[in-house]
Amino acid sequence: MSARFARHDDRHRANLIDNRPMDELELLVDLHLDGPRQGPGGAAATQLAIDLADLRGRRNLAIADVGCGTGAATLVLARELDVHLTATDFVPAFLARLERAAARAGLSDRITPVAADMAALPFADAALDAIFAEGAIYNLGFAAGIAAWRRYLKPGGILAVSELTWFSARRPAELERHWQREYPEVDTAAAKLAVLEDLGFGPIGYFVLPRHCWLDNYYRPLQARFPAFLDRHGHAPAAAALVAAEVAEIALYERYGDYFGYGYYVARKLDEASVPP
Ligand SMILES: C[S@@+](CC[C@H](N)C(=O)[O-])C[C@H]1O[C@@H](n2cnc3c(N)ncnc32)[C@H](O)[C@@H]1O
Repeated sequence: MSARFARHDDRHRANLIDNRPMDELELLVDLHLDGPRQGPGGAAATQLAIDLADLRGRRNLAIADVGCGTGAATLVLARELDVHLTATDFVPAFLARLERAAARAGLSDRITPVAADMAALPFADAALDAIFAEGAIYNLGFAAGIAAWRRYLKPGGILAVSELTWFSARRPAELERHWQREYPEVDTAAAKLAVLEDLGFGPIGYFVLPRHCWLDNYYRPLQARFPAFLDRHGHAPAAAALVAAEVAEIALYERYGDYFGYGYYVARKLDEASVPP
């Protein structure tokens, strides 16, 4: 899930093309820039979320894709819906890739890439019909992100997010230790749905991202980029450490993917009566 993106929000203006050694965030961006996506997911999953949200057939939608990366989900949303999309991320290099892909796909007029921290999004209150965030809300935290983004949605607006989720009540100790260390907010779907309900949303759909969304769409292309990445950086310790962390995360998923993964949550914003006083 590339949790390490989360730890460097103070360094996002980094210049990737000067000659000094890259810092950790720059290395991370360099490793992920050429990927089809920067986290687990897939077009069919985004389409299923669209269907659950009942967005098809509606005109002139205003939707944000938060933490869009190079825009895998943004492009699906733009293709499928009558929409104006604001695609936000704090890595300008990802947004530049999205801009080029949108132009190639003839979708530029539907997509505005905006460099923005997801903790301070540039939207007016009640401006959006929907917020999508695939593999990204963890950077703020699930509850904090839901609470912070609720105001940007129109009444009845849709929140559609994928989030690290336990698929069972009990897990192997090694796995529990890993994710409690990396992302202590990891929890079961029942607990995540309760968070949504508590923060003024009515869940309208939940599904589990299929394994191929992790393995074929994300991890295998990532693995294929390791050798060139290490060569580009002369096998520097920081680059090697980054690859080692990714290798360990992939092994964990391959071993324990029945116990955890991404849950995709689709929920509708309810009125003020649903929010604690
Ligand atoms: C795991 S990637 C997912 C990207 C994309 N949604 C996808 O599924 O391919 C998380 C994204 O969140 C972005 N990100 C992390 N922290 C952020 C922050 N504080 N503000 C804005 N974007 C952030 C990263 O740059 C990265 O593109």
